[in-house]
Amino acid sequence: MRTGEPLLEVGGLRVELGGRPVVADVDLRIAAGDRVGLIGESGAGKSMIAAAITGVLPEGARTSGSVRLDGRELLGAPHRQLAEVRGRRLAMVGQDALTALNPLVRVGKQLALPLRRRGLARAEIAAESAAMLRSVGMTDVERILRSRPGQLSGGQRQRILIAMALACSPGLLIADEPTTALDVTVQQEVLAVLDRLTRAGDPPPALLFISHDLPVVARSCERVAVLRGGRVVEHGPVGDVLTAPEHPYTRELLAAARLTAWPEELVP
Ligand SMILES: Nc1ncnc2c1ncn2[C@@H]1O[C@H](COP(=O)(O)OP(=O)(O)OP(=O)(O)O)[C@@H](O)[C@H]1O
Ligand SMILES: [Mg+2]
Repeated sequence: MRTGEPLLEVGGLRVELGGRPVVADVDLRIAAGDRVGLIGESGAGKSMIAAAITGVLPEGARTSGSVRLDGRELLGAPHRQLAEVRGRRLAMVGQDALTALNPLVRVGKQLALPLRRRGLARAEIAAESAAMLRSVGMTDVERILRSRPGQLSGGQRQRILIAMALACSPGLLIADEPTTALDVTVQQEVLAVLDRLTRAGDPPPALLFISHDLPVVARSCERVAVLRGGRVVEHGPVGDVLTAPEHPYTRELLAAARLTAWPEELVP
């Protein structure tokens, strides 16, 4: 990557589904190690932006604009090239671990796959898998490795997804509502794990954090973009956007979060 060139550069991105634009004119620049939040109401197009970046748009979606990773254009690039670049540099944690994990295959086997591809021997794979689970705060490691995803709690599955996503040391981690499906107390624990691990990497990955939960974004990110009807209506440093929102829609979001003034302790 050339110096000063962003890790991810999304320019004039447009996504149409069934002839209807669901993402329009979206620009987003993320440099190595940046932590960027993307917020907006349900249906705003947040997940479609993530899908355009990761290359898993619904069938029939039409895209235009540009998605560059390490300076290479991904929109419309050949499938092989996409798989290679995305597999190496990009990882994603979604909302629903049950669909992201294979329900029939034991966790240990799913964790082992990428490790085997990296050429690790059997004993190393066992040690590394256990270490991955401990890194996301799990103690009952042997049992979890033997379990199938359906035998675990939602919080445990989400921790496993985080461990798997970070195992390949991605340059960019996209987290799309990673805790929305969890109970409030479990949400806090899983967020703390995500926060700790993404800040601790060497080098730490850049983070694109998608959420409708403003306090979460304020804690985890340095910059934030506010999305409405597929368009970015406001973006800037988290502290600026949330303490002095310029767009009426951002003010609405703040009000909806029942925060009229942004609590001091949440402003970075
Ligand atoms: N598979 C699909 N086929 C057709 N339209 C879709 C599909 N998935 C999403 N959409 C539409 O695209 C728009 C953007 O959806 P998207 O999933 O990106 O919203 P979101 O901001 O992620 O919302 P949420 O906070 O509920 O996850 C919505 O109008 C949605 O109805
Ligand atoms: Mg979504």
